[in-house]
Amino acid sequence: MKRPTWIHAVVLGAFCTGFGIILATTNVFTADQIAQRAVEDMQNSLAQVVPAAIHDNSLVKDAITVKNDAGKDITIYRAMKDGKVTGVAYEIDGTGYGGQIRLMLGVDAAGNILGVRATEYHETPGLGDKIDPAKSDWITRFTGLSLGRPPVDKWKVKKDGGDFDQFSGATITPRGVVAAIRAGLEFFAAHKAQFLEVR
Ligand SMILES: Cc1cc2nc3c(=O)[nH]c(=O)nc-3n(C[C@H](O)[C@H](O)[C@H](O)COP(=O)(O)O)c2cc1C
Repeated sequence: MKRPTWIHAVVLGAFCTGFGIILATTNVFTADQIAQRAVEDMQNSLAQVVPAAIHDNSLVKDAITVKNDAGKDITIYRAMKDGKVTGVAYEIDGTGYGGQIRLMLGVDAAGNILGVRATEYHETPGLGDKIDPAKSDWITRFTGLSLGRPPVDKWKVKKDGGDFDQFSGATITPRGVVAAIRAGLEFFAAHKAQFLEVR
């Protein structure tokens, strides 16, 4: 017996609606998980550049937004102890061999580096990836330094007359990272009052 065409249309419509609902539900569920993972990644990066001993607050909760020179909003995660800002952390960008390098920079209230970690990079394994602390201690050597230590004109790799080691056969990556950190410290110097102000 031949079924009327409208039955096929109804069955097809029901399937489409059913699968549409399943897709939409999965999307809502995974979007939450993805957002939760992003928060965890951020908290993990922050914990690596801001020692737990200098704060008794949530850096994420006490974050503020400050515009950089290019007009871009930068989130400033603030470490606070006894109601005073003891340090800040924010993301900075550099350019390496493989494109953009994102770093998290932690700075204490006096402008000294608490820590730096690359959060995203596309450098070549065995060459530029020595910015990763799992591969070399190079990035950890910035801790304790500031714009005056070394002097501003020495914030370059040795090949360019500065104080920082390049990697053998790979100068572009460390050059980009040193420039980014130096710019990050200049950003701190320019906005220090805003970073440290407690309203
Ligand atoms: C396939 C390939 C991958 C490379 N990857 C990197 C890299 O990740 N980082 C880097 O600094 N240089 C890398 N280099 C080397 C750079 O091209 C450059 O020669 C090196 O950084 C030295 O730079 P300099 O001439 O300014 O001293 C790579 C070269 C090749 C051929």
